[in-house]
Amino acid sequence: MSAVLIDGNALSRELRADVAMRAARLKARGVTPGLAVVLVGDNPASQVYVRNKVKACEDSGLHSVLEKYDADLSEAALLARVDALNNDPAIHGILVQLPLPAHIDAQKVIEAISPAKDVDGFHIASAGALMTGMPGFWPCTPYGCMKMLESIGYELKGKHAVVIGRSNIVGKPMALMLLQQNATVTICHSGTRDLGALTRQADVIVAAVGKRNVLTADMVKPGAVVIDVGMNRNDEGKLCGDVDFAGVREVAGWITPVPGGVGPMTITMLLVNTLEAAERGL
Ligand code: GUN
Repeated sequence: MSAVLIDGNALSRELRADVAMRAARLKARGVTPGLAVVLVGDNPASQVYVRNKVKACEDSGLHSVLEKYDADLSEAALLARVDALNNDPAIHGILVQLPLPAHIDAQKVIEAISPAKDVDGFHIASAGALMTGMPGFWPCTPYGCMKMLESIGYELKGKHAVVIGRSNIVGKPMALMLLQQNATVTICHSGTRDLGALTRQADVIVAAVGKRNVLTADMVKPGAVVIDVGMNRNDEGKLCGDVDFAGVREVAGWITPVPGGVGPMTITMLLVNTLEAAERGL
C-alpha cells in the first residue's frame, strides 16, 4: 500500500489565501503588514531563499523590504540596521538570512532583533516562550510541520514521535511543539545508537538532518506519518529529502514529498508570523 501524500503546496495555498484575507482586513484599518529581509553577502542558496520570501509577501499583499549588503559589512553596521528596523513602524517582522559571513556573530545579531518582530522565532526569548508554552513566534519550519500534521487531523496525544536532528532551527523546536501536543518525544542525532530501533517504534517521524537516505523503509513502522524536512541533491542533481521516498512511501501511512512538502510551508509560516506580528501591534 502506498502512503497518502501530504501536499505542502496545496496546504500553503489554503493558508496563504487566509493570510491575504487577514492582510486586506488590516490594510482597511490602515496597517499593511511589513517584513524586512536582510541578506549579507552573495551565498547563492540564500539569494534564492530571500527572493522567494519577498515574492511570497508580494503575492499575499504583505509589504516587504529586501536589504542587501556586501559580504564585508561590519557587525556594528548590521546591528545598526537591525536597530533601525526595530524602530520602523512600517516593519512588523525582521528576518536576517543565515548563514552570515564568519566575521559576524550571528547569535548577537539575532538577539538584537526585537522579540516582537522575531518572525523567524530564533531569538532566545522566542525559544524560551516555546519551551514554557507562552505566546511567542515559533520557528517557521517546525511550525509548518505541525500544520501539516493538523491538516490530516492527526491526534498526537499519546503517540510516539521521533525527531531525527537536534538543530536550534528545526529539531529542538520540533520536539517541543510535539511535546506540547502531548506526544511522547524522542530526539535522535548523530550520536544515537541504533536509530532504526527507535524509528521503528515511532508513530510519527520527522527527519531533519540534511543527509540523503537517513530514513529507509526498514526503519519505518507500517502506517507511520513521515515528515521530511531535508533539502538535498541526489547524484543527478535533483532535489531530494532525508527520506528514501520511493521505499518509505510503500510502508508509511502518510508522507511529505520533497519538493512540494515542508519547503513551501516554511515560507507560508513566515507570512503567518509576520501577519500575526502586525495584528498583535494593533
Ligand atoms: N537560512 C536557512 N533557513 C533560514 C530561515 O528559515 N531563516 C533564516 N533567517 N535564515 C535561514
